[in-house]
Amino acid sequence: MADGFVACMFVFLVLASTFLRRAAAGDVITVDVIIIGAGAAGLSAGKTLSEGGITDFVILEATERIGGRIRNAEFARLKVELGANWIEGVNGEKENPVYTLANEVNLKYSDALYDNVSQNIYDHTGYLAPELVTPVVERAEHLFDFVEDLGTKFTNENLDDISVLTAQRFFGHVPSTAVEMVIDSWNYDFVSAEPPRVTSLRNSQPLATDTFLGPDSYFVSDQRGYATLLEPLAYYLNCKGGMCSDPRLRLNTAVTKIEYSTGGVTVHTEDEIRYRGKAAVLTVSIGVLQTDLIHFSPALPFWKLSAIYQFNMAVYTKIFLKFPKRFWPTGPGTEYLLYADVKRGYYPFWQHLDNEFPGENIIFTTVTDDESRRIEQMPDEETLAEVMVVLRKMFGPDIPNASHILYPRWWQDKYFRGTFSNWPIGVSSYEYKQLQAPVGRLYFSGEHCSEQYNGYVHGAIFAGSETAHAVLKCLHEDKCDTLYSRPKATT
Ligand SMILES: Cc1cc2nc3c(=O)[nH]c(=O)nc-3n(C[C@H](O)[C@H](O)[C@H](O)COP(=O)(O)OP(=O)(O)OC[C@H]3O[C@@H](n4cnc5c(N)ncnc54)[C@H](O)[C@@H]3O)c2cc1C
Ligand SMILES: *[C@@H]1O[C@H](CO)[C@@H](O)[C@H](O)[C@H]1NC(C)=O
Ligand SMILES: *[C@@H]1O[C@H](CO)[C@@H](O)[C@H](O)[C@H]1NC(C)=O
Repeated sequence: MADGFVACMFVFLVLASTFLRRAAAGDVITVDVIIIGAGAAGLSAGKTLSEGGITDFVILEATERIGGRIRNAEFARLKVELGANWIEGVNGEKENPVYTLANEVNLKYSDALYDNVSQNIYDHTGYLAPELVTPVVERAEHLFDFVEDLGTKFTNENLDDISVLTAQRFFGHVPSTAVEMVIDSWNYDFVSAEPPRVTSLRNSQPLATDTFLGPDSYFVSDQRGYATLLEPLAYYLNCKGGMCSDPRLRLNTAVTKIEYSTGGVTVHTEDEIRYRGKAAVLTVSIGVLQTDLIHFSPALPFWKLSAIYQFNMAVYTKIFLKFPKRFWPTGPGTEYLLYADVKRGYYPFWQHLDNEFPGENIIFTTVTDDESRRIEQMPDEETLAEVMVVLRKMFGPDIPNASHILYPRWWQDKYFRGTFSNWPIGVSSYEYKQLQAPVGRLYFSGEHCSEQYNGYVHGAIFAGSETAHAVLKCLHEDKCDTLYSRPKATT
């Protein structure tokens, strides 16, 4: 007993001296596995490692918090989500882990009612009568179904990929008027943040999230934040209210350099500490991988860089507005409004939060892609001025000015460089495997590494777990190149 106690104390002291003492510049810390990034993927990887018996790991996170692209912010006395907002893909054949986690913490969410668009379309003349737009909405629905079926055919018959826009041409009519374009962007850009011209048909249609996880979505408005659902996922870090007490999590720790080989990985951080591991899991976004934020030694091989550079990091921006009074319609079926402009993507999507925050008069508009990049570079006041011009076209000249505006700049943020990945035309599943493949003992993960669910929170959770399983197989069974390894070139 006493010996056991002494041994335990010794282990405790060794652990404590490694973790509790503030590591200083020049220190080398040796662990089994180094996880880089404390977003959904990194936290999921840590869970799978823990369950597989590996607890000697660190999670290095550049920012001051866990959650990554799941984060909220204060807005006019309330909290709104700047990143992920919907639990997407529920009530299907396979359980969505995000939904399970949300229910574990009793997250507050509401039904996302998307299907009343023909009643909620505006243009520069104001509200458009449903009689006018219903035929256009119906044709867009036929077009959508047609494109989905063509996507299934391309997969089943293993045809060379085409873009969603190319698929639309087979239908015989490509959306081109202002109303047609806004419905088209509602069907595609609102989901993938890039237009049909860019997106792969085979890998986006039909959407695996809808097919396997379910057609429904829930909109999260919990004042504790969407990120609260990560706490049961990261139970091993003991997090409560966003604060985690486990010393294996190292916040404000930006990785600057990664040395890798088949013998292990050494990770350098901004505070000049080195972490040595048998393996590392890198979960930074594909947008970050496309920059030189992290220096790799040796340089990443050409096949790896080529796969990284080919995949797309899309940008999706929610612009929150608060008004002294409400001037938009409220009640069932009015949550989502569309604004049809001759310039595709010009403040097209609108959603009021009357159900979530009654009496607060909050509405937000969403822009994507080049409009997001343009607006990120403008000061808030300039954006607000543009938004007010649009709203006065929609609702008339007499509406009041907004009292508050808030929007994030994910694309300009060096730790994100966009919001989520989108599978572009031209990336085959062979090239996709190269995106997932490790180099030496450096493993790649994050939402962009989920072949079925890239771009989503559930994709990040699945990917983190899959990558950690590959690491476990490597460390426990010495099978390091079986999963996720680069496929042999076909001739
Ligand atoms: C505006 C927006 C809306 C979205 N809407 C939805 C939605 O409604 N539903 C949905 O399912 N998904 C949505 N998503 C996507 C979803 O949020 C992401 O797919 C998911 O959160 C990504 O998790 P991840 O762990 O792969 O990456 P991240 O969350 O990006 O985690 C990676 C972590 O690495 C850190 N990092 C970066 N560089 C370094 C470095 N050098 N050193 C150390 N750490 C570093 C980052 O700070 C970050 O915390 C949305 C995303 C955004 C931004
Ligand atoms: C659709 O929206 C209109 C007004 O914008 C509303 O009157 C109607 O009740 C809604 N229909 C449904 C089914 O929600
Ligand atoms: C709204 O703001 C603009 C610019 O600050 C100002 O010129 C205008 O008078 C304001 N309109 C109303 C209705 O308050």
